[in-house]
Amino acid sequence: MNAQLFALIFFLNVINFAISAVVSASSDVVDKELILTEKEKIAFEKFRAAIMPKLEIEMMKHDLYLLRYIRAKNLNVEKAKRDMLEMLEFIRVNNIATIMDEDFSDMTDDYPFDMDILDLKGRPVGYLSTDGAWNIRRLVLQGKQARLRHYLCKLIFGLMFKLVEINKTQPNVTKFSMIFNFDGFNAVQHGCPLCVSTYLTFLELYEKYLPACTEDILMINSPTPVYMLINIIRPVLSEHTSRALKIFGQNKRVWKPYLDARIDPDKLPDLLE
Ligand SMILES: *[C@@H]1O[C@H](CO)[C@@H](O)[C@H](O)[C@H]1NC(C)=O
Ligand SMILES: *[C@@H]1O[C@H](CO)[C@@H](O)[C@H](O)[C@H]1NC(C)=O
Repeated sequence: MNAQLFALIFFLNVINFAISAVVSASSDVVDKELILTEKEKIAFEKFRAAIMPKLEIEMMKHDLYLLRYIRAKNLNVEKAKRDMLEMLEFIRVNNIATIMDEDFSDMTDDYPFDMDILDLKGRPVGYLSTDGAWNIRRLVLQGKQARLRHYLCKLIFGLMFKLVEINKTQPNVTKFSMIFNFDGFNAVQHGCPLCVSTYLTFLELYEKYLPACTEDILMINSPTPVYMLINIIRPVLSEHTSRALKIFGQNKRVWKPYLDARIDPDKLPDLLE
């Protein structure tokens, strides 16, 4: 084997090892999530007592969800209450409670998203691939951005609803993951300025409504524009989202071992095998 190639493979393994180290360290954090400081306890209880009577959908009534929410608001009870009332309005207007029963047959063929995958620890995983699909530019030209946004709500809240269902029998399942595969990325169809804002919508909805609810937000086969975009927005993301967000390039040698350690390869769409 030539020396340069060897050095490169060694380097990639080091990166991969570093990433796994970070990840296994953060799973201890998950167990510690339920340990509250005195200050957190006071804010959490105040927030919970004020907001609980107004909550209808089950997902929001979980202590862990409310705790993550108040933490995301830096323990500011007034702000958390205000933002959550806004969220309740959003949920009502967009029929989020029944979004899983809605007909999205106009979207599912051209904008596929798999949400029936479970990782090795039983957590739900959402999978989206741009390969031969997700021609966002066309949607934008058709003026269907609002429809797309609503569809994205289904994907992201759907994963959370799934998680809450699984949690009933496996209480240790408290997070979900998302995988974005940028295989077949095409600068015209996937990289137009309004397309880019669509990817951001995903992260925006997640941060706003489901803070700290993911284990991993993985991007694989990421082309340069995706790296650039993430570098630009990383500073405005919450610390938790930034930690969950892991970007891999097009080298399968690097991302495949990472995925295999977390998801049974048989459960992933053909493309990833
Ligand atoms: C939950 O517990 C089951 C049974 O002990 C275990 O197999 C699984 O890996 C755990 N999942 C998580 C997310 O810790
Ligand atoms: C999952 O189950 C545990 C233990 O019953 C609970 O504390 C937690 O709030 C549940 N819900 C979610 C969404 O993680």
